[in-house]
Amino acid sequence: MIGTAREGRHISITGLGCHVPDRILANAELETMVNTSDEWIMERTGIRERRIAKPEEALTDIALPACRAALEDAGVAAGDIDLIVVATVTPDMMFPSTGALLADELGAPDAAAYDLSAGCTGFMYALAQAYGMLAGGLAQRALVVGGDVLSKILDWHDRSTVVLFGDGAGAVVLETVDEDGFLGFELGADGGGGMSLWLPNSGSRAGEANGRATVQMNGREVFKFATRILVHSAETILARCGMTVDDVDLYVPHQANVRIIDHATKKLGFPSDRVVINVDRYGNTSSGSIPLALADAAADGRLKRGALVLMTGMGAGLTWGSALMRWTKETA
Ligand SMILES: CC(C)(COP(=O)(O)OP(=O)(O)OC[C@H]1O[C@@H](n2cnc3c(N)ncnc32)[C@H](O)[C@@H]1OP(=O)(O)O)[C@@H](O)C(=O)NCCC(=O)NCCS
Repeated sequence: MIGTAREGRHISITGLGCHVPDRILANAELETMVNTSDEWIMERTGIRERRIAKPEEALTDIALPACRAALEDAGVAAGDIDLIVVATVTPDMMFPSTGALLADELGAPDAAAYDLSAGCTGFMYALAQAYGMLAGGLAQRALVVGGDVLSKILDWHDRSTVVLFGDGAGAVVLETVDEDGFLGFELGADGGGGMSLWLPNSGSRAGEANGRATVQMNGREVFKFATRILVHSAETILARCGMTVDDVDLYVPHQANVRIIDHATKKLGFPSDRVVINVDRYGNTSSGSIPLALADAAADGRLKRGALVLMTGMGAGLTWGSALMRWTKETA
């Protein structure tokens, strides 16, 4: 799916908030849990540490502070939100949805609220959906949440996955603005590659003797897919919007692995000062990754009003998605 957003209403991000659990799990501690080393993890992934939820913490506990921060940043009351989309593969439970639980906790009784599953690309899919509903006039103010608590679905004996992932959530408010905002989206899915990154025993295909469902991954296949698709999706959306890499002020790729980001950055031709990287501190937080990266760029002063921002996510499905936007908010 690809489309530009040049006619009709202008929709933009007017508030941004994030939250991660307090507990830091550094590579040195992982060395005591599985047969790995700080050196291997740093060299192959660039990840130094990640955040891990407490046993009693679920997605809503992590997403709620992010939602509240985003609403405050936008200066919007929860009661004025009429759409909540939560991108996640680790909802509190299969149903009720995390969206509905958050709507209740926040106090947004008039909001349509639901969850969306597109792996680590979920936040990009959710942005595009909310954009479409606002542009079509179906909703006026949306809260888009990307968050995951992947630590809950990892096999903590599997060194090939535990080193990669972390927990975290981000939220943005989408509203109509006078000009600029989103310029276009490109989204895709290839279920044929789906079994490269999957959660067996987790749905209606689960066997009777199912144990705890844990993430299974063919790392090399996902690596090949990721390096190819980050470049392809970025080039496709830029071409469709009549822009080039030189026009982009800030590139916000999914934070999966520093080697994947470096590959895409070099291939696309971005100078490093225009690329947001925080995978070293958070690992791969799945749907939380891009909003967490946006928040870091806002904090370090690179996310400015007028900046052309390119975001690209990829993940389980296999799925991918890019959004191109002209940032409209004044950030500190
Ligand atoms: C997982 C990943 C880091 C592995 O890096 P790699 O360079 O491809 O490493 P390989 O899979 O070729 O494995 C190399 C060796 O390291 C070993 N290894 C795997 N994980 C290890 C770990 N945590 N510590 C130490 N050694 C490890 C492997 O067993 C293998 O050993 P062998 O050669 O004796 O068989 C990399 O493939 C990757 O990042 N893939 C994408 C994953 C991803 O982003 N998933 C989420 C997408 S949203």
